[in-house]
Amino acid sequence: MTLNYEQIWATLPFPAFVVNTENKLSHVNSAAEQLVKSSAKQLRDKDVDYLFGQNSVIADTVEQARAKSGSLMQYNVEVALNDVDPMTSNVHVGPLGSDTEDLLLLIQPTGVAQKMSRSLTHMAAARSVVAMSAMLAHELRNPLAGISGAAQLLAMNASDGDLELTELIEAETRRIGKLIDRVEHFGDNRPTALAAVNIHDVLDRAVRAAQAGFASDIAFVVDYDPSLPDAAGDSDQLLQVFQNIIKNAAEAIEGTHGKIKLRTSYNSGVKFAVGGNRTQNVPLQIAITDNGAGIPEALIAEIFDPFVTSKSNGSGLGLPLVSKIIAGHGGLVECDSTSGRTTFTIRLPVWRSQTEL
Ligand SMILES: Nc1ncnc2c1ncn2[C@@H]1O[C@H](COP(=O)(O)OP(=O)(O)OP(=O)(O)O)[C@@H](O)[C@H]1O
Ligand SMILES: [Mg+2]
Repeated sequence: MTLNYEQIWATLPFPAFVVNTENKLSHVNSAAEQLVKSSAKQLRDKDVDYLFGQNSVIADTVEQARAKSGSLMQYNVEVALNDVDPMTSNVHVGPLGSDTEDLLLLIQPTGVAQKMSRSLTHMAAARSVVAMSAMLAHELRNPLAGISGAAQLLAMNASDGDLELTELIEAETRRIGKLIDRVEHFGDNRPTALAAVNIHDVLDRAVRAAQAGFASDIAFVVDYDPSLPDAAGDSDQLLQVFQNIIKNAAEAIEGTHGKIKLRTSYNSGVKFAVGGNRTQNVPLQIAITDNGAGIPEALIAEIFDPFVTSKSNGSGLGLPLVSKIIAGHGGLVECDSTSGRTTFTIRLPVWRSQTEL
């Protein structure tokens, strides 16, 4: 079969535009025609500014991509068009090829790319569920202490058979107590205190702790970018993030060939909107990949929601906490999973002495 590029172009599910050196549209695909509600013929030679508005995120992204002769990705930006309600989208602009200075502009409505924005789109829902659970957890503490105390009293005069039962009561109340601790920890809404953090140090600490405990028979492979600048972060919170992800990875691995790979890199082209016209640069990229069974298909859209778990003894609070912490850092977390390969990618801003979020 010979590849027919016209067909590929026409069937691309996302609106795609070719922008020439004068910032005019030279080609659009049919998804773009539908988005803009105009035909390719009507759109030909129209100005990017005309279509998306002057100083729009799109015009700005096109300009930046041209200036750096590279590609640029903007997450969750509002794309406004004449006669169309603004929609949240991921916008990609990159060179079309080495023999042309034209740019390819792709607009991907985030409804389709839910996984990308998972951590952010779910924060509001997470907050309300967690606020309620935190209150409930607080209310549970007193009766729980009563149950545990009563079991201890009973244990003093209990027969061997009954002792087993009082121990069970105590063990289970301890388990609930730990869950309450985690929920309350989650409800902690103090702002993140940012400082310069060497990501590799924190990753190494997380790996050492894992190797000393639950991941003792798993091979860790590191691939660090030695020139990675410091992140703007809270190292204790980031340690918790890496530990939660590594723990999930270890729990997903069965058998003796478990491998967890940690990779860091710098990618200057990743930004996302933080409200108004401001965008946040999140060039530090940390990818944690395991070769475990993968995330169950039915769960993948919800893993960042609280209390979603596939484990009999899981509380489903690990990833919501990851999401909360990374959002507090002005970063992004996303996940990509197939059987035998699951990657969590975290993107964080760089530390500047006067970092402002
Ligand atoms: N690396 C992974 N591989 C496969 N599935 C994963 C992976 N990471 C997360 N998951 C899935 O996502 C679910 C939610 O993870 P999360 O860490 O939030 O909760 P948990 O691990 O079940 O419980 P907790 O972390 O609170 O003990 C897990 O139950 C699991 O099904
Ligand atoms: Mg977990």
